[in-house]
Amino acid sequence: MAILVTGGAGFIGSHTVKHFTDLGEEVIVVDNLHTGHRGSLSNEIFYELDIRDTAALEHVFNQHPIEAVIHFAASSLVGESGQHPHEYYHNNVYGTMCLLDVMRRNDVNWIVFSSTAATYGDPERIPIKEQDVTSPTNTYGETKLTMEKMMKWYDHAYGLKYVSLRYFNAAGAHPSGAIGERHDPETHLIPLILEVPNNQREKVYIFGDRYPTKDGTCIRDYVHVMDLASAHHDALNYLRAGKESDIFNLGNGNGYSVKEVIAMAREVTGHPIPAEVKERRDGDPAQLIASSEKAKQMLGWEPRYGSLRKIIEDAWKWHSGEGAGKKVSTISERLYNVRLAISKSSFK
Ligand code: UFG
Repeated sequence: MAILVTGGAGFIGSHTVKHFTDLGEEVIVVDNLHTGHRGSLSNEIFYELDIRDTAALEHVFNQHPIEAVIHFAASSLVGESGQHPHEYYHNNVYGTMCLLDVMRRNDVNWIVFSSTAATYGDPERIPIKEQDVTSPTNTYGETKLTMEKMMKWYDHAYGLKYVSLRYFNAAGAHPSGAIGERHDPETHLIPLILEVPNNQREKVYIFGDRYPTKDGTCIRDYVHVMDLASAHHDALNYLRAGKESDIFNLGNGNGYSVKEVIAMAREVTGHPIPAEVKERRDGDPAQLIASSEKAKQMLGWEPRYGSLRKIIEDAWKWHSGEGAGKKVSTISERLYNVRLAISKSSFK
């Protein structure tokens, strides 16, 4: 039986697809290609569709016996989510409802869900544990928390079993350099830093240096995308073993400041990478560090690429290689950006 991966052409999705196929799993990918890239996939069976198109999704379930779903398909930009809550609720919350209902109709009861540290908001303690208060400070985190709750009640009523994986700061790239992180526009720290030695920008901006941290800049827990990919397989096996629904943090438990990340990127690339301090970015918590003990104990998750150096080395291998040259947007991506621009102006 096959594993259906929604949003499998995105950053974490495509690395998970590669990991699953390398392990010999049969994978079917669906993605609307609004932000994902067809070029991040290989020879997997692929359907360009939106999960809200339930007839098209139903067709995929009719064509292939599906054992479980790995669900990445979602809009995931914190800043954009604040300007476009309608789009975020529609794509993330309503989209997940469509998916769960097609799963129900087809008697597919296992789902691994792509969640986020943004469900916690400003943490009350560090490291953050799964039972800590969830109080998102942005629309994106709120939609992900709502999706988790929807799955909880679908489990209660219909017996859907889910594993929700709350990622901290996903980064890095496949160690082969074949696939990596490509967002348009890019908002994440490590790819932005690497655009400097790649001659795509002159300097990197540090968003605030007066936080209550060791050097005044924000601290994050960076986790290698291949370690996230392997956690999805651990989660699938957990469900296959007949275990109960649950939520797990995924991070390394080590916090690095923005200045430390820039310093490591200077070491890895050998480039001076000029940096300039700017004002704080709205809604950035000073510190986010995960406790992932629960995932290690209950899922048997063993991160292999825990060091910041390895994360940046792999990201740099991709960014400095052919991958970075593949930043050609697809027709779907361009249409999506045009639609977003139109909806921005019509709601002003
Ligand atoms: N930063 C800079 N300069 C930049 C970009 C980022 O100083 O040009 C800083 C940010 O202020 C933050 C840190 O670098 O302190 C990391 O920023 P990212 O944008 O790379 O990541 P975030 O921590 O903001 O976001 C990540 C995920 C989100 C998720 C969030 C959970 O990308 O999907 O963690 O809080 F929602």
